[in-house]
Order: sequence, then C-alpha cells, then structure tokens
Amino acid sequence: MQIQGSTALVTGANRGLGAAFVEELLARGAVKVYAAARTPEPSDDPRVAPLALDVTDAAQVEAAAARAGDVTLVINNAGSHSGARIADGDFAAIQADLDTNFFGPIAVTRAFAPILAAHGGGAVVTVHSVLSWISAGDGYSASKAAAWSATNALRSALAPAGTTVTGVHVGYIDTDMAASIDAPKIAPREVAAQALDGVEAGADEVLADEVTRGVKAGLAGDPMAFPVG
Ligand SMILES: NC(=O)c1ccc[n+]([C@@H]2O[C@H](COP(=O)([O-])OP(=O)(O)OC[C@H]3O[C@@H](n4cnc5c(N)ncnc54)[C@H](OP(=O)(O)O)[C@@H]3O)[C@@H](O)[C@H]2O)c1
Repeated sequence: MQIQGSTALVTGANRGLGAAFVEELLARGAVKVYAAARTPEPSDDPRVAPLALDVTDAAQVEAAAARAGDVTLVINNAGSHSGARIADGDFAAIQADLDTNFFGPIAVTRAFAPILAAHGGGAVVTVHSVLSWISAGDGYSASKAAAWSATNALRSALAPAGTTVTGVHVGYIDTDMAASIDAPKIAPREVAAQALDGVEAGADEVLADEVTRGVKAGLAGDPMAFPVG
C-alpha cells in the first residue's frame, strides 16, 4: 500500500519512535494520523487527531476502533521496558511488559482488522526488537519474542483480507527507552522511514540496523552464543 493518501493510527504516538512515525507519515502524504497515546496531546496540525489509547485497556481499544473507522494503516509502536529479570525480577512488572508489548498489539490488531479489511486490506506494522531473537534476560525480551510469533500468526490470518503485516526489528533507538545506554543508536525517524518503506514494498519484516541483521542471520547457531545481560 501507499502511505500517500492513507489514514494511519500510531500507538504510543506522543514521544520517541511513535512521534517519529507521526512525522514521517505526514511527510509522506498521509491525510490523517490518529496520534494515540495514554495522555493524548493537542496538535496544531489539522491532519493529526489525538486519541486516548492505553493498549492494555480493552475498553479503550474498543472505543478507539469505534472512533477511528477510517483507518487504513495501524502502527503498533507502544512499548514498555521495566527491565524486570525473568529469573528473579518482579513478576508483576514482567506481566506488565507482556501486557503492553505482546497482548497490546494483538488486541489493537484484532480490533482494527475488520476496519482494514473493509477498506481493501491496508497494513499493520508492529515494532519488535533485536531482542525478539536474543535474550537480555528480562521480561521485555520475552515479550518481544512472543510478539514476533503473534505477528507471524496475524500475517497469515489477515492475508486473505488483503492486509499486509510488517514486523520491524531494531537494536538501540535514540529515545527515552534507551537513554541510559551508552552505545550506537539509530535515529527514530530513520526507523520510521525504513518501516514505511517496508509497508510500501509489502515486506514481511524490516531489519533496521546491522546488529539486527547479524542476529537474525545467526539464528541457526548456538542460543548461548550471545551473552545474556
Ligand atoms: N528505544 C530502543 O532502543 C528500542 C529498541 C528496539 C525496539 N524498541 C521499541 O520501539 C517502540 C517505541 O519505543 P521508544 O523507543 O519510542 O520508547 P519510549 O521513548 O520509552 O516510548 C514508549 C512509548 O510507548 C508508550 N506506551 C507505553 N505503555 C503504553 C500503553 N500501555 N499504552 C499505550 N502507550 C504506551 C509510551 O507512552 P507514555 O508517554 O504514556 O509513557 C511512549 O509513547 C517500543 O515498542 C519499543 O519496545 C525500542
């Protein structure tokens, strides 16, 4: 599908990669962007429609789909990173990461799938991570691995309706989430641009940086080849 003329919804749109998605969509000619956020912010741009959406709140997901019935492109961007360790971290925090990063995109995609189908198919983008394929030892990594599986399931399930599903995998991005990390980071706008190129190409996956491409290529190797943090 083409971004030009599309109507998009971006979760977690108020900052970081979500805000970059909104900017890139508008730059490419999207006619309307629902900027969905837990605390929606007003915009001076008439093409931007703020929308209240906590992706872990089933009633808000349902209300968002009821309000935004013109959406042709869904971008599951919202993410949480508690850092809670699988082996001994706070269990509720691990569950919260799964709620946002795994159940959230599933709930949003299920709610919007009939809307996308009614508009001829459209597309879904879900933001994953290089940690879909290596573990940093935390619930966040597990949530991204699980979300990768769900994205693969949804790609098959939505294909008959003509909906493409693109998974975006990436290492460190220069946002709040990685603020404490001292390592090379890709710019959020660059990730958004690659993701939207992927949508326009009908790509199943976008691997946005060299680290991610290397990890995916090494998947057939020893699972302990990468140090767990
Ligand atoms: N930064 C990285 O290094 C990196 C690397 C790979 C993948 N990613 C992924 O990239 C995506 C965007 O993250 P980011 O880097 O932009 O991080 P960020 O700066 O921490 O932003 C996270 C965004 O998700 C929103 N969010 C969190 N929980 C939510 C919920 N329950 N419902 C709705 N929105 C929620 C936040 O909203 P509030 O403002 O309300 O908190 C915020 O807008 C995430 O899926 C993340 O896992 C990030």
